[in-house]
Amino acid sequence: MTIAPQPPVAVGVGLPWDVPVDDPVAALAEARRELGDTFVVDSGDDRYLFTFSPEGVAGFYALPEEQASKGVADWRMLRRKLPDEVFVGRRTLPHQLFGRDDVAAHLDNVDRALETTVAELGTSGEADVFALTRRIGHRVGLASWGGPGAAGGARFEQLVAALDTLDAAESFVHPDAMAAVAASGKEAERHALAVVEELIGQGLAELPGAEAEHPLFARVAAAWADEASGERTAGMALDVTLIHVASMSNLFAALGWALVDLLEHPVEVARLRAGDRARAEACALESTRLAQRSIMARYVLAPVSLDVGTAVLEVAAGVTIATLLPLTNTSAAPGLDAWEPDRWNRRRLADVGALPVPELVTAFGHGRHTCPAQPFSLAAMTRATTCLLDRFDLEPAWAGHPGPVRAQIGGVARAGRACLVRYRARPT
Ligand code: HEM
Repeated sequence: MTIAPQPPVAVGVGLPWDVPVDDPVAALAEARRELGDTFVVDSGDDRYLFTFSPEGVAGFYALPEEQASKGVADWRMLRRKLPDEVFVGRRTLPHQLFGRDDVAAHLDNVDRALETTVAELGTSGEADVFALTRRIGHRVGLASWGGPGAAGGARFEQLVAALDTLDAAESFVHPDAMAAVAASGKEAERHALAVVEELIGQGLAELPGAEAEHPLFARVAAAWADEASGERTAGMALDVTLIHVASMSNLFAALGWALVDLLEHPVEVARLRAGDRARAEACALESTRLAQRSIMARYVLAPVSLDVGTAVLEVAAGVTIATLLPLTNTSAAPGLDAWEPDRWNRRRLADVGALPVPELVTAFGHGRHTCPAQPFSLAAMTRATTCLLDRFDLEPAWAGHPGPVRAQIGGVARAGRACLVRYRARPT
């Protein structure tokens, strides 16, 4: 796994799947301070080439998938948590869910999920922001692709419990826990898959006549229609599982941070309550940018060149090329460490000229792998924040801005502690 010319190696630095690291993002920031913008980390059996230089990050997003694969890098991460069968033979993939009609249907489900959430909350009480938004995420997802009966009642609760056990994001939110998952032979995850299969089977039995209300589930069912009943349900359950866990990787956490940030900025709450949708979207983007803790990775399948500014590196197959959003998003230009929705002009930074290259800052990615769910996610966040602020007075019970889970390296941050909010219904 050669890289020529060879950048400096971060001696004594490992990644949390291989060695205990309290805060991997801080450890890599320290390595960058010592070694400069481009360096190598050898961890376990893997070699990582980290780059943070303007040329390196811009080049990273331009890497061709055939030579430097995001799909393979993601799979190598997520398989630490999910059983292999989840990745084999999928017929409906997360990328395929965000056509114009699909998004309209998902957004109807967002509205329904929000009405159910408002009813569940009642007139007053206390809730954890991230538990609340996670439940909304499950409800929207399962209404969109879980089939009849999946978004309410006992079946919803059972699906949530099983899909939480299958939460692939644990591979990057709690990378330190993956050794225990491997040691268990993924027993809990396999049991959860069996539960999902049973429940998806119940939904399939109820599908005839309900296809119009469940178009996506009907599409998954059609993709497996040529199989015998047992194989069909098993294949559908795996399709739905992969779609659902992908949808739960970032959205509910980003929505949680949007609420946290808004509650810390009462002036913005007033603007949203006055109906300023564009402002709500700018706030959502800004919270997502600041909460990014993503490692962006490409696994080299065939030798590839990467210009990092100081050199053009020839990178051999087997290396993982990576950059970390938390190290560039908040520091690529002065002032980026502050929450400031004004910096967004629609979905772009207003002052992109202040950056050496635009790729140094992002919420949803750049280039060919840009998140296909960005329009849906921003619309969902806008609706959810606006609805909750319209319907409730919310008073944060936390002191000081909450921080992330320190062990996390990937995705939008999860909160390192409970973020309780006291709420009271507003007069309608
Ligand atoms: C606020 C919510 C979200 C954020 C911040 C987010 C962020 C991102 C980012 C940064 C990337 C690019 C990663 C890279 O280049 O390595 C990405 C890609 C992707 N996202 Fe999202 N995402 C969100 C919601 C979702 C949802 C709800 C789904 C639904 C399943 C989804 C599915 C995907 C897929 C399939 C890709 C890969 C696209 C490709 O490889 O071409 N995302 N996302």
